[in-house]
Amino acid sequence: MKKQISLFAVIVFASLFLNACSKLQQENPPTQPTASIHGEGFANPVSSNSHVKYIQGHNWDIQACKACHGANYAGGTSQKSCLTCHSKRNGPENCTTCHGGVNPAPPTDLAGNINRSAHGVGAHQVHISYGYSCSTCHISPSKVTSPGHLDGVKGAEIHFDTTGYFATNPSYNFSDNKCSNIYCHGNFQNGNQSNKVLWTDTTGNGALCGTCHGDITRSDKEDRARPKTVEEGGTHPNRVDGKTVLQCYQCHVHVVDANLNFVNKSLHLNGKVDF
Ligand code: HEC
Ligand code: HEC
Ligand code: HEC
Ligand code: HEC
Ligand code: HEC
Ligand code: HEC
Repeated sequence: MKKQISLFAVIVFASLFLNACSKLQQENPPTQPTASIHGEGFANPVSSNSHVKYIQGHNWDIQACKACHGANYAGGTSQKSCLTCHSKRNGPENCTTCHGGVNPAPPTDLAGNINRSAHGVGAHQVHISYGYSCSTCHISPSKVTSPGHLDGVKGAEIHFDTTGYFATNPSYNFSDNKCSNIYCHGNFQNGNQSNKVLWTDTTGNGALCGTCHGDITRSDKEDRARPKTVEEGGTHPNRVDGKTVLQCYQCHVHVVDANLNFVNKSLHLNGKVDF
C-alpha cells in the first residue's frame, strides 16, 4: 500500500539530499519511508551527524552497512547507493576513501591533515616518489578487510621490510617520530649509524649530503658527503698513494658527476656501493 508522504518530510529529505549531492533527482520522489533511519545530515560530511564521523567512531568498519546498502554498496534494500558519491573502483572500499589522495598514502591522513608536520602525513609522498611501496614500512592490506588493517589498534602500525638490504633492525619511535637503524639513512658500513631521521621534518635537511654518510657540518659539499675515512675510524678510501684526494665521480663515475649531481639515481640507496 502506498504511504502518504507529508510535505514536511519531503522538504527535510530534499534538503538533506541537496546538502550532500547536487544531483537531486526531483523527477524521482522518494518511495521509501522518509523518516531517516540515520537521522538528519548523515550524508553530509560536515554535519555533526555525518556518516564520516559515525564510521570513524566505529573503527572505520563499513561492513555492516552492506546489510541494507547491498553487498556492492549499490543500494540493496535501502535503495540508497553509496556509489553515487563514492564512484571510484570498489566504491567506499577504495583505498583512498579514508586516507590518501593521489595514491593511498597520506596526505590526506586519517584526521584530515595534509601538512608534512602531521605524523600521519610525514614523508610519505617523498618515499612514494622514490619508488618505495607501502610494504617497505607497513604490512600492506590487499583489501579493507585484510587481517591487521582495521584491527582495533588505533593508528598505523609500522612493520619494516627486513628482507634484502633493509635487514638492519630498523625501528620507528611513535613518541618522537624518529627512525633509527635504517639502511637508507645511514645504517651501513661507514654510514652515520646514529642518524635519527625525523619523519615529520619539513626542512628537507634529511636529504642533504652529510646526513646519512659524511659530516653535515663541513663547509665543502664533497667533504660533507665523504664517508668515514681510515683517519676517522672508517674504511672509506680518502687519499690515493697517500696524498691525492680524488673527487667522488672519479671512482663513483656511474653514480655522480663532477658537480656531485646524480647521473643515475637508481644506483644510490640500492643496497650496494656502485662505481
Ligand atoms: C538497517 C538498514 C541500514 C543500515 C545497516 C545502514 N543504512 Fe544507511 N540508509 C538506510 C536507508 C533505508 C536509507 C535511506 C533512507 C534514509 O535516509 O533513512 C539510508 C541512507 C543512507 C545515507 C544517505 C544516502 C543518500 O543518498 O541520501 C547514507 C550516507 C547512509 N545511509 C550511510 C550508511 C552507512 C555509512 C552505513 C554503515 C555504517 C549505513 N548507512 C548502514 C538503511 C541502512
Ligand atoms: C551524498 C554523498 C555520499 C553518500 C551517498 C555516501 N557518502 Fe560516504 N562520504 C561522502 C563524503 C563527501 C565524504 C567525505 C570525503 C572527504 O572528506 O574527502 C565521505 C566519506 C566516507 C568515508 C571516509 C571516512 C573517513 O574517515 O574519511 C567512508 C568510509 C564512507 N564515506 C562510506 C560510505 C558508505 C559505506 C556509504 C553508503 C552506505 C556512503 N559513504 C555514502 C559522501 C557520501
Ligand atoms: C618510509 C616508510 C613508509 C612508507 C613507504 C609508507 N608509510 Fe605509511 N606510515 C609511515 C609512518 C612512519 C607513519 C606514521 C606513524 C605514526 O606516527 O602514527 C605512517 C602512517 C600511515 C597511516 C596512518 C595515518 C594517520 O593518520 O595516522 C596510513 C593510513 C599509512 N601510513 C598508509 C600508507 C600507505 C597506503 C602507504 C603506501 C602507499 C604507506 N603508508 C607507505 C611510514 C611509511
Ligand atoms: C574504511 C576506511 C579505510 C579504507 C577504505 C582503507 N583504509 Fe587503510 N587504514 C584505515 C585506518 C583507520 C588505518 C589505521 C589503522 C587502524 O586504525 O587500525 C589504515 C591503515 C592503513 C595502512 C597502514 C598500516 C596499518 O594497517 O596500520 C596501510 C598500508 C593501509 N591502510 C592501506 C590501505 C589500502 C591498500 C587500502 C585499499 C585496499 C585501504 N588502506 C583502505 C582505513 C581505511
Ligand atoms: C679512490 C676511489 C674513491 C673515491 C675518490 C671515492 N670513493 Fe666512495 N667508495 C670507494 C670504495 C672503494 C668504496 C667501498 C669502501 C669500503 O667497502 O669500505 C666506497 C664506498 C662509498 C660509500 C659507501 C660507504 C662506504 O664507505 O663503504 C659512499 C657513501 C661513498 N663511497 C661516497 C663517496 C663520496 C661522497 C665520495 C666523494 C667525497 C667518494 N665516495 C669518493 C671509492 C672511492
Ligand atoms: C637518505 C640518506 C642519504 C643521503 C641524504 C645521501 N646519501 Fe649517498 N648514499 C646513501 C646510501 C644508503 C648509500 C649506499 C651505501 C651502501 O650501500 O653501502 C649511499 C652511497 C653514496 C655514494 C656511493 C655510490 C653509490 O653506491 O651510490 C655516493 C657517491 C653518494 N652516496 C653521494 C651522495 C651525495 C653527493 C649526496 C648529497 C646529494 C648523498 N649521497 C646523500 C644514503 C644517502
